[in-house]
Amino acid sequence: MNVQRIVILGGTGFVGSRLVPRLTADGHHVLLLSRNREAHRQRGVGRNVAIASADVYDPATLHRHIAGADAVIQMVGILNESGRNTFERVHVGLTRLVIDACRAAGVHRLHMMSSLNAGKGTSGYLRSRGEAEALVRSSTLDWTIYEPSTIFGPGDGLVTRFDSLLRIAPVMPLPRPQAKMAPVYVGDVVEAIARGVNDASTVLRTYELYGPETWTLIDLVRAIRDARGRHRVILPMPDALGRLQASVAQFVPGKPFSPDNFRSLLVDAVGQSDGLAQLGIHPQRLSDWLPRLLGQPVRHRRLDEARSRRRH
Ligand SMILES: NC(=O)c1ccc[n+]([C@@H]2O[C@H](COP(=O)([O-])OP(=O)(O)OC[C@H]3O[C@@H](n4cnc5c(N)ncnc54)[C@H](OP(=O)(O)O)[C@@H]3O)[C@@H](O)[C@H]2O)c1
Repeated sequence: MNVQRIVILGGTGFVGSRLVPRLTADGHHVLLLSRNREAHRQRGVGRNVAIASADVYDPATLHRHIAGADAVIQMVGILNESGRNTFERVHVGLTRLVIDACRAAGVHRLHMMSSLNAGKGTSGYLRSRGEAEALVRSSTLDWTIYEPSTIFGPGDGLVTRFDSLLRIAPVMPLPRPQAKMAPVYVGDVVEAIARGVNDASTVLRTYELYGPETWTLIDLVRAIRDARGRHRVILPMPDALGRLQASVAQFVPGKPFSPDNFRSLLVDAVGQSDGLAQLGIHPQRLSDWLPRLLGQPVRHRRLDEARSRRRH
């Protein structure tokens, strides 16, 4: 395996924090570019990892940091627009800047984290993802695009988020209850990128990354509720009410749900071309992970199930 110097944008978050140790375990040297190095100081701790505060929207800064790298991983992404951080700026504009900086600095290899269904449907999120992918594909770089479905794992925005909401809400109105998703384990996503980094045959390829199970949103929320033993009412909402809820929730601090999130949910997050299989990765199941994500010891649960089977 050839050791690479890799610059990562957006590598201080949920996926990046798992990706960095995976890459350094292969011997690669990683430089993380962050808007605020101090906030993620612990990420820079470790052999072969450095973190720099950088305004990645400044072409000269970007050029300076990626000059001399063997590869760039672009994983900055947002689910909601806020202030000047529009989908256009963060997804499309930043991708354009990264491509230009790579070309100017003579860096040929670009890995780009996108999203399943990029370019489909009517949401600004998915549309801007599609535009960013088009820029990458039309560049002269050696690119690889990763398109994950919703990602699960400790601290995720899926199980952890619904678990927190169920803790506080006696009744949970649920928009798009029948929306389908095939959640993918964060470790499998990280492994996919690591293999992409190490395997030149992934150049000019797009990998859909999705898990082996398809869930409807309401079944997932019910499973989280039941695993916790919470007595909560989950109210499936027709689309007209779901839209209304989104238009109100966008003004709640933290923007828990927005009209654009609603529009993204109109497209099922299930894939068609199994990128994990193509990369030789056997994916993990959300149902196996649920107890662990909810803080229940898996071993005990299995023992309990075995005991209860013996009793019946
Ligand atoms: N998690 C999922 O379920 C999922 C599913 C599909 C696709 N994805 C995509 O996969 C990528 C990684 O996901 P993630 O869950 O690890 O994301 P994350 O935890 O939100 O981390 C993304 C990082 O991007 C940086 N960032 C955020 N907003 C930014 C902005 N406006 N300008 C510049 N940098 C910004 C932040 O780093 P600093 O604060 O250090 O600057 C943050 O740590 C993202 O592109 C995401 O959209 C995620």
